[in-house]
Amino acid sequence: MRIEGGRPLSGTVQISGAKNAALPALAATLLTEGQVTLSGIPPVADIRTMARLLARIGAAVEERSDGYRVRGASEPEPTAPYDLVKTMRASSLVLGPLAGHYGRARVSLPGGCAIGARPIDMHLTGLKALGASIGQERGYIEAVAPRGGLVGGRIRFRRPTVTGTEDLLMAAVLAKGESVFENAAREPEVVDLADLLTKMGARIEGAGTRTIHVEGVPSLHGTEHRIIPDRIETGTYLVAGALTAGRLTIRGTRREHLERVIERMRAAGCRIGSPDANTLEIDGCTDLTAVDITTREHPGFPTDMQAQFMALMTQASGTSKVVETVFENRFMHVLELQRMGADIRISGNTAVIRGPAQLSGAQVMASDLRASACLVLGALAARGTTTLHRIYHLQRGYANMAEKLRAVGARVEIVDA
Ligand code: EPU
Repeated sequence: MRIEGGRPLSGTVQISGAKNAALPALAATLLTEGQVTLSGIPPVADIRTMARLLARIGAAVEERSDGYRVRGASEPEPTAPYDLVKTMRASSLVLGPLAGHYGRARVSLPGGCAIGARPIDMHLTGLKALGASIGQERGYIEAVAPRGGLVGGRIRFRRPTVTGTEDLLMAAVLAKGESVFENAAREPEVVDLADLLTKMGARIEGAGTRTIHVEGVPSLHGTEHRIIPDRIETGTYLVAGALTAGRLTIRGTRREHLERVIERMRAAGCRIGSPDANTLEIDGCTDLTAVDITTREHPGFPTDMQAQFMALMTQASGTSKVVETVFENRFMHVLELQRMGADIRISGNTAVIRGPAQLSGAQVMASDLRASACLVLGALAARGTTTLHRIYHLQRGYANMAEKLRAVGARVEIVDA
């Protein structure tokens, strides 16, 4: 992707559906033989991978203009193979629904990833608490339910896990009896999944709080559901607006999902307006001041906005501290930002940024999804032209980013997809 920096951005950006809500929603279609119609699914690579995975398992997957219509398999091949899991770790989201509905799931072990080790041990201990036996052979994890199906149980998470909570929620909805989750993830994506499951006939209470109660039901049915807007895409465009002169209007979002991000950006001097709960407006900022952030589980500052916020802090006066507490290795963007002229030092899980720095365009390499977004933002603020390599990382999670940026006046082109 080639980006010419320093141009004002003005106009309206329409936010797409949340990738991280759409992925578990697609996995949830495995819980019924009924037809589930999902809209607001973003056109990104990870979603296409999940759709391929559902089709391999045996579901009938029909792509529509704004989403998918899925009819679950009656005779599934309950396996998530290595070639799909290695490109998308969220493939492990099929463990819970397959074990819950069909009594058996085989998922390739995910292995390492650019932002840290990312084990799935809590998914597995949770499944055991619901009665499954877990085995491992030739790189695959196999979960097998007892003859009568999974049974309700008590699961206390060592720490909140987003996909772990989602995976086990999907396992528990068809288990016999009551399940209780303690220290569950409270992210909006978990709530959206619970909303979908409830429409399918599940009985869930407390999604969005630390404790979730599930009363198992014998079966679920088809339904229709619209995915929530992507709060991380929203935050990314807020930073784009702040870093460039002009004014961006961001539509189709949910302000309530971004409270901490908006609060930190305002503390840094960004002027963010909100004419209604679904719209945000941001002016280019010339007088940013350094503020600190520490990433935390929701409702704290999201780790998925850490890299983008760091791009913003390179343009703020003073010294800011960015502390990453969710993943152990999520500073891959720092070396590339430094190559563009940023003054950043890392010590353990803390990055110290001194600004403002005049960034200049360079050849840079994307290492993961949010790191790529950070480099696009740095490039928009930089003098000269940046070439971002390996943009497949960006395309995993941002819907039509080049088009959306061009529509508000950025000079962005995809030279080689
Ligand atoms: N963890 C374990 N054991 C587990 C599960 C998680 O130790 O069994 C650890 C992780 O290594 C991490 C922490 O717990 O240190 C929290 O990880 P979590 O499980 O919440 O992350 P995730 O579910 O794998 C989702 C998003 C990520 C996002 C994180 C945190 C999806 C598909 N992915 O991952 O999104 O960063 O929650 O909010 O929902 C992205 O979109 O770029 C992305 C990486």
